[in-house]
Amino acid sequence: MSVFSSRPLSEIPAGAAAGVIMPHESAWDHVTGKALYTDDLPPRSAHVLYAWPATVDAAHARIDSLDTTRAETMPGVVRVLTAADVPGVNDYGDIGDETLFPDTVQYYGQHVAWVLADSLEEARLAAEAIEISATELPSIVTTQEAIAAGAFQGPQATLQRGDADAALASAPHRLSGELDIQGQEHFYLETQASFATIDEGGQVFVQSSTQAPSHTQEVVARVLGVPSHRVTVQCLRMGGGFGGKETNANGFAAVAALGAVLTGRPVALRLNRTQDLTLTGKRGGFHATWEAGFDDEGHILAYKAVLTADGGFSIDLSPAVVSRALCHVDNAYYLPNVHVLGRIARTNKTSHTAFRGFGAPSGMVVTEDILGQAATMLGIDQEEIRRRNFYAPGQTTPYEQVVSQAERMNDIWAKLKESSRYGDRQREIAEFNAGHEHVKRALAITPVKFGVSFNKPFFNQAGALVLVYKDGSVLINHGGTEMGQGLHQKMLAVAATALGLPLDRVRLAPTRTDKVPNSSATSASTGSDLNGGAVKNACELILDRLAPVAAGLLGVHPNDVRISAGVVSGLGAATTLTWEELVDAAYFQRVSLSATGYYRTEGLYFDQSTYKGNAFKYFARGAAVAEVEVDGYTGAYTTRRVDLLHDVGSSLSPLIDLGQVEGAFVQGAGWLTQEDLRWDTSDGPTRGKLLTQSASTYKLPSFSELPQLFNVDLYVHPTDDGSIYGSKAVGEPPLMLAIAVREALRAAAAAFGEPGRPVELASPATAEAVFWAVEQARRSTPTPVLTAG
Ligand code: MTE
Ligand code: MOS
Repeated sequence: MSVFSSRPLSEIPAGAAAGVIMPHESAWDHVTGKALYTDDLPPRSAHVLYAWPATVDAAHARIDSLDTTRAETMPGVVRVLTAADVPGVNDYGDIGDETLFPDTVQYYGQHVAWVLADSLEEARLAAEAIEISATELPSIVTTQEAIAAGAFQGPQATLQRGDADAALASAPHRLSGELDIQGQEHFYLETQASFATIDEGGQVFVQSSTQAPSHTQEVVARVLGVPSHRVTVQCLRMGGGFGGKETNANGFAAVAALGAVLTGRPVALRLNRTQDLTLTGKRGGFHATWEAGFDDEGHILAYKAVLTADGGFSIDLSPAVVSRALCHVDNAYYLPNVHVLGRIARTNKTSHTAFRGFGAPSGMVVTEDILGQAATMLGIDQEEIRRRNFYAPGQTTPYEQVVSQAERMNDIWAKLKESSRYGDRQREIAEFNAGHEHVKRALAITPVKFGVSFNKPFFNQAGALVLVYKDGSVLINHGGTEMGQGLHQKMLAVAATALGLPLDRVRLAPTRTDKVPNSSATSASTGSDLNGGAVKNACELILDRLAPVAAGLLGVHPNDVRISAGVVSGLGAATTLTWEELVDAAYFQRVSLSATGYYRTEGLYFDQSTYKGNAFKYFARGAAVAEVEVDGYTGAYTTRRVDLLHDVGSSLSPLIDLGQVEGAFVQGAGWLTQEDLRWDTSDGPTRGKLLTQSASTYKLPSFSELPQLFNVDLYVHPTDDGSIYGSKAVGEPPLMLAIAVREALRAAAAAFGEPGRPVELASPATAEAVFWAVEQARRSTPTPVLTAG
């Protein structure tokens, strides 16, 4: 083995492109409109057909008849796709619970057939002309209804350690509660889009806004009844995914592909915003019941909970959502005695899916809710009760993984308290509150510890393809997808670093399944870890072959060849070569200049039956301080200031990581404070309908809700072993920093009442929810904490 491919994963060579402050590789194209998205492609092709769905407005119904006769004769209509047209499997899920052209409607507004026409308008008119008669069936819309009816789906899982019941019984203080955590719409800027074409050999090419091209390829092949090598899926880039395109792109890609196969013409399918909101899965809500036991100092002695995820009508990624929730209820805290049951409710809603953090954010919200309530009721400072429960080095999670770098949490905490002037501001706020009866301020600090790796070990693998051309220019492909998170920028930096070249010598080509096969979804924040490992490996395999060539030219041993900033040198050699000279020489010596790279994360295993194992390669961490001001008459509030400190290890691209931390925090704050998904839960004719179907009724965070003062810092720390150039994943973890805003709102509501009164806060903590929390603080009787003995 040569020096290059045996370099440690985390070792950063001198002059590395990794870690240099650079904008996103497409930033300029994004803001000028030059960047192409999937739906920009159809107008560049001829003879395109446009797809529009026929839908049924019932939460649950059996289709008795579906008549397309009239629709088929309408102007511009080329074909109407129904179940009879599917040559392969009429299902876009993996376990057969997601029928592509269903005979039973599972949620309000579900698509049951698709019209292909010369124009979108013609397809729309014809879709309306499809005659469908259906019989309504009983429906379950809310998680509570599902729990009452015992309507669950998929596996149930139990996270267990110690004896939670006994610890609860003997705990000096006991609390219990119930919390409904609302879901969240992804609201990516680009809605779901696919564009399918077919070539003379019957090869299907689908361009799709998908986070998981290989999975999309698999589903398309299954629906078409062809082997995977007949289908190629490409993702140029996405205008946001956030988990909403991890599986949800697959069904639409399959419809477009089927249309292209049956008509021989290109088929474009892009949902408009209302369709996207109606047809696609979201972050599902969680229902939690919990009991917790504390000692006098506020240490958690017992933790018992039942977490029920609203899975919607099918399983989809809900098992992963639940396992993330179970593996993150501990957040940064040591839980000696735990018993948490996780289960998935089946409801007549869109099938809920991945969303930044999967179930981890919901699991953490439950725990922070418990600590927030315990602090007010036990009369212990919010900051202190959290810090006292932090993991100490050597302690293990409830699934029995040693918590590596546990000491970093204390360090981040201390640094953030100092930079945010936490103590001084607590005093200033107490003074302010003493002088203001109807307006109260509060400060809260919360931690995040987030495990990085897919919970299913086999997903933790990736491939890459690196091509070096004769002129020395480099083209890379990897299995990850770009959704705005800057993965491509990071992969360029990894390739340039591994090869010892300036960034501008490397170009990156769109993600395609015929370049890198069997890729995992770009998800669980693992994109840069996995694909970075594979890109580095491919580059180093090429360097291993180039080293002997360079050694010969420089008169040194191959192990003594160095490449930095495009200059090839040898230890003790009198002369140097350029990279181009080396590549040219290698070509004439008939040395291969391309390689596929591969990476698998080492050290992972997880036993789903006992819920124990080494689930994660490492933990990402951060902390947030938020200050809010609440109006006691209305519950209206402002976020006055937020300070974030987040650990990204040795950043691959600091500017991108800063953007990720800011964006994730704002998205988390939107989820926890403003975004309020509502379905019609009445027994009326639109039962099950999503009522918040547009940006006018679904309130997204915008500039006006940004904290008035927003300080975001990366925790500067030496490299982390075991990950690509010592970096840490950043995509999801900072979303959970937003829990600080929720806890600040609880503390502000509490400030309206006497100390020691319980303050329950609904999620999302809208102004209305905060108003009710204020009312509770004002009116309830103090401390119903059960005290043993
Ligand atoms: N950032 C942007 N701009 N757009 C996105 O869709 N998705 C998030 C996060 N950051 C997202 C984003 C989610 S859900 C994940 S899992 C990660 O990016 C995935 O990318 P990574 O693994 O390369 O970090
Ligand atoms: Mo992110 S929810 O893992 O796509």
